[in-house]
Amino acid sequence: MDQRTPDPPLYETLAAQIETLIESGVLRVGMRAPSVRAFAAQHGGSLTTALQAYRLLEDRGALEARPKSGFYVTPRTHQDRALPAPSQPPQRATQVSISNPVFSVLAYASDPSYAPLGCTIPSTSLLAAERLDRHLARCARVHGRNYNIYADPHGDAELRGQISARALRLGHAVPPDGILITNGCTEALNIALSVTTRPGDTVAIESPTYFGLLQVLEARGLRALELPTDPASGVDVTALDKALGARRVAACLLASSFNNPLGTRTSDARKAEITRVLTRHGVPLIEDDIYGDISFGADRPRPFAAISPKADIILCSSFSKTIAPGYRIGWLAANRRHDQILAAKFALSLSGAALPQKAMADFLTSGGYDAHLRRIRQAFADNVDRMRRTVDRSFPKATRMTDPKGGFALWLELPRGFDADALYVRAIRERICFVPGSLFTASGGYRNCLRLSCSTEWSARIERSVERLGEMAEEMLG
Ligand SMILES: Cc1ncc(COP(=O)(O)O)c(C=O)c1O
Repeated sequence: MDQRTPDPPLYETLAAQIETLIESGVLRVGMRAPSVRAFAAQHGGSLTTALQAYRLLEDRGALEARPKSGFYVTPRTHQDRALPAPSQPPQRATQVSISNPVFSVLAYASDPSYAPLGCTIPSTSLLAAERLDRHLARCARVHGRNYNIYADPHGDAELRGQISARALRLGHAVPPDGILITNGCTEALNIALSVTTRPGDTVAIESPTYFGLLQVLEARGLRALELPTDPASGVDVTALDKALGARRVAACLLASSFNNPLGTRTSDARKAEITRVLTRHGVPLIEDDIYGDISFGADRPRPFAAISPKADIILCSSFSKTIAPGYRIGWLAANRRHDQILAAKFALSLSGAALPQKAMADFLTSGGYDAHLRRIRQAFADNVDRMRRTVDRSFPKATRMTDPKGGFALWLELPRGFDADALYVRAIRERICFVPGSLFTASGGYRNCLRLSCSTEWSARIERSVERLGEMAEEMLG
């Protein structure tokens, strides 16, 4: 009897060749695979066979088909790594006291002698910094004096026009007059909170959440009500409804997409449900859309304000994660409270710096932002993918990790009892910086979690640092 295994069908052999290209890094996440026609011609198969190979890889989640464009490499999913469990923060409003530990972590995170797994600051090589600088230099040369003034507190009119036009592409109709340019997303969040809350009020937030947001709540004397949040789907709507029914909540503050640190993409349907619940309870939504443009999928998710245009929503965002954190240009878009918002901006900083706004407006008008976004989305998707693979082979087997759909944060959950604060102390001694999970909550949880930043270009140093963290975690658990 012939014991030989039959040769696999040709389409499987062809699929394996593409998989090898992906494994070896020749084809990276977000890249377009060779066209079916070119691939068939190169490998001597028919068009049908090549297409069968591509469809097989689509079924396996290695490629995704984009209409009229071709097949693209998708971020790898690591089936053997479960997602972190949905959070279950205590359902009470908590006084926030986070600033001191945050400042100490930020000091290490911004020191280049530490491996950069801490701050989510994109490396300048990935951003369009030089092009923007050229616009700034030209603006200063050509009409610098005209911009050495107290500018319109609303911000540069051309820049607001550009932001309004981009919002419309997502179905968010906000006229330039409804947009206020701010000093980064942080000032936008402060203004939004100042017109919706008073000190002592409670604000509902995701959990875990970005520590900078907790600092803002702390500085404004606001209490945090942390909501149960599922890394796969976002805030638990039933829990939100229950929480709002149980106490007075002045505002709800959520990420529009790819929340920091979980990287969750909340579906449009769930976003609509969340705004329905908030409207029923009369609670305004402040949404932070800073990571929305860094989507790894074929489309860019819509913010809440586009999905529920009549709801009471203040959208906050900035160019800090996509173009230039140092220019400090953010914005706020609202469909009500315009006078209060302008008064708050006036009280906080009179107006923004005119010249950087002009340079940003010129940059956007000159085109190329979409091409730039395509490039950085691919770079960040690739970084996240490499980080996940390195964690997968280096961290203890029981480690869970998120599967971010955008942004550049990766959240790890180690077994209960693991002390990520102690790991942090050891890592700092070895000049590796990351952010321990305890900084992402006001209520004392996530001691067994940590956030790794994937915002810097991948390097041997980063890879070795992640491996070393995994070894240390293994030793601590062992
Ligand atoms: C979720 C989130 N919102 C806001 C900010 C701050 O934005 P900006 O630098 O524009 O003030 C950050 C920075 O890390 C962030 O992660």
